Amino acid sequence: MSAIRKIGVLTGGGDSPGLNAVLHAVTKSAINNYGLQVVGFMDGFKGMVENDYRELDLESIAGIATLGGTILGSSNRDSPFRYPSELNGVRTFTDRSAQALSNLEKLHLDAVIIIGGDGTMHIAQRFAEMGVNIVAVPKTIDNDVALTDYSVGFHTAVDTASEALDRLHTTAQSHHRVMVMEVMGRYAGWIALYAGLAGGAHVILIPEIPFEMGHIVKTLQERRVRGRKYNIIVVAEGTAPAGGEPMVRQMVLESEDPVRLGGIGNYLGAEIERQTGMETRVTVLGHLQRGGSPGPFDRILATRFGVAAVDSIMKQRFGTMVSVQGRKKVNVAIKDAIAQLKRVVPGGELVKTARALDISFGDR
Ligand code: F6P
Repeated sequence: MSAIRKIGVLTGGGDSPGLNAVLHAVTKSAINNYGLQVVGFMDGFKGMVENDYRELDLESIAGIATLGGTILGSSNRDSPFRYPSELNGVRTFTDRSAQALSNLEKLHLDAVIIIGGDGTMHIAQRFAEMGVNIVAVPKTIDNDVALTDYSVGFHTAVDTASEALDRLHTTAQSHHRVMVMEVMGRYAGWIALYAGLAGGAHVILIPEIPFEMGHIVKTLQERRVRGRKYNIIVVAEGTAPAGGEPMVRQMVLESEDPVRLGGIGNYLGAEIERQTGMETRVTVLGHLQRGGSPGPFDRILATRFGVAAVDSIMKQRFGTMVSVQGRKKVNVAIKDAIAQLKRVVPGGELVKTARALDISFGDR
């Protein structure tokens, strides 16, 4: 294989805090350490299909590491393998991957860094199988990418959710209310579990542990008997009652993963009020979890990943994802990372720790 001279980078899927810090580290390390040229595709894979890109030089990335969002834009609805377009007012989907490949060739790109979550990684793997030299960087507030302890954005989302819980505590206390807060996370309960632990929730409900309404009601009533006048419940959007299915907020047909979850918070709030008579309010934290500046943990993780991704390209570790396991940075095969979702282990240490503090998961 000939020498690496020029690389591409894109941010795909839902954004998360820390994407700019990855772009900053990729560009700086590529230029300063290896003298590479860097181009960034706009709006995820859309830019690859439409040949919409910008040169990334030291000037263009100066000062962006602390900023939220992504200077390249992102999209979770433009897979080149199922590319949406409109014909006579009718939405159609076509395979535009050949166009994307030809654009990569025209730009003389020797490798591409794909920054994304589960959906983006699936697309990255398909391009890797078609011969594109790809290195992936895991990012998602959901933290559900397997074979890495953490993905970029997760810790900042946890910071935001924890702060929101702190604020709910004080108003819940004043009014002797039950406060239900619904957080994101798709089919994984990481944000709910971490934020619930950090923010002193009394009940944490996650997709990995189906709940029963009766157990939640019992917990609230027992706390009332013990003189506890308010309750904080954090629920992950993908949580379902035992035997039930997660609630769907919306279908986005242009997306690789069209299901948008949500609604469980409001359902719980209404049921709790109906079954206990306790005054209840619901907060749906939503996209606040994805916005804003990355916290220090994500800035550092993103920087480590960005540098590691460029190093991995130079070492020709193609078809891999940079990851962090314990204190080590390692490369894992993208195909192994996407073989499963990383979900909370119901009998794992974090859940046991929470249970030791009398936090209920609504299952007993
Ligand atoms: O995967 C990240 C995520 O924020 C999920 O937690 C959430 O379910 C989804 O994306 C929301 O997607 P959208 O931005 O399309 O509403």
